[in-house]
Amino acid sequence: MTKDTSKTLPAHHACSLSPQDIVDLFKITFDQELYRDEQQILSDSIQNVKAELYNRNYAAAFDSTTKRTAYCCRWSPSRAIAYASLFSHLEGVREVIQKGTDSEVLCIGGGAGGELVSIVSMFAPSIDFTAKYSTVQRETTAKNLRINLVDIADWSLEIQRITKTMDKAWLFDHSSDVQIKFINQNILKMGPEDLRLPSMNLITLLFTTNELFLAEKAASIRFFQKLSQECSSGCLLLIVESAGSYSHITVGTKKFPIQFLIDTLLLGKRGQESQGAWDLIQEHDSLWYRGKDEIDYPLKVENMRFFYRLYRKK
Ligand SMILES: C[S@@+](CC[C@H](N)C(=O)[O-])C[C@H]1O[C@@H](n2cnc3c(N)ncnc32)[C@H](O)[C@@H]1O
Repeated sequence: MTKDTSKTLPAHHACSLSPQDIVDLFKITFDQELYRDEQQILSDSIQNVKAELYNRNYAAAFDSTTKRTAYCCRWSPSRAIAYASLFSHLEGVREVIQKGTDSEVLCIGGGAGGELVSIVSMFAPSIDFTAKYSTVQRETTAKNLRINLVDIADWSLEIQRITKTMDKAWLFDHSSDVQIKFINQNILKMGPEDLRLPSMNLITLLFTTNELFLAEKAASIRFFQKLSQECSSGCLLLIVESAGSYSHITVGTKKFPIQFLIDTLLLGKRGQESQGAWDLIQEHDSLWYRGKDEIDYPLKVENMRFFYRLYRKK
């Protein structure tokens, strides 16, 4: 296991498109809401979503198109630039996105587009755009990336809008190299034929694990057991949550950091870690992402402090 000693992630990691490119993608996609006559509706919806998230009323935070779009405008850009830096920083994750010839990713709770945009912001620069037009025969292998976004809230419209902009602005005639599928389901209730866990090279649970455990503790534990039974050897699992007490959960009468419970489920009980189905390959308890002040976006771009755990299936 590599103990990550960085304190802060770079504002821009060279292997992804720049943070400004990323926020520009949101500016183009949500132009109507951000710059035109829908600005007042947007600012009211942002306040609504903020209040619901603060009170941990997660279902209510995402129960209408205006609220979901507000989240995409206000929070997804910050998440996407931070995730682009984090995914680039994690070698295994970077390889799945940029080097795999046929990779498949599952983003649980990824309906708001942050994960999607960051992944494509890394995939796009890895495409050889000249290959199709070159007169010289080259040994290039076509790359294919399948991204599955599973979310209990219906983000299909927002994902459609983001995908359309990514095709036009980033992927051009390579848009079919990335297949994006949005699945509007409760991850805890999905059957194996929909989940297709054995096909996945990377699974992400970003700011979603806590929500799962708060809503359905026993079903969440069963879900992690299912990951251990069904994921293929080599599959990566990335978990990100807020650093600090916001991510503590109560079991019985005790409160403790959620990562302790996840480690127990995936690695095995303390002292018997070698018996678990996964290896912990990289982790950090409190890492910062700070964006550059000069970034041009009409709404606040948040900094992020989080813990992460990257596991690999044995
Ligand atoms: C706090 S948001 C985080 C969104 C995104 N991952 C990010 O980092 O910006 C949590 C997401 O998980 C989704 N979610 C919560 N419970 C879920 C479940 N049981 N199945 C699928 N998605 C779920 C919510 O609808 C929401 O989109």
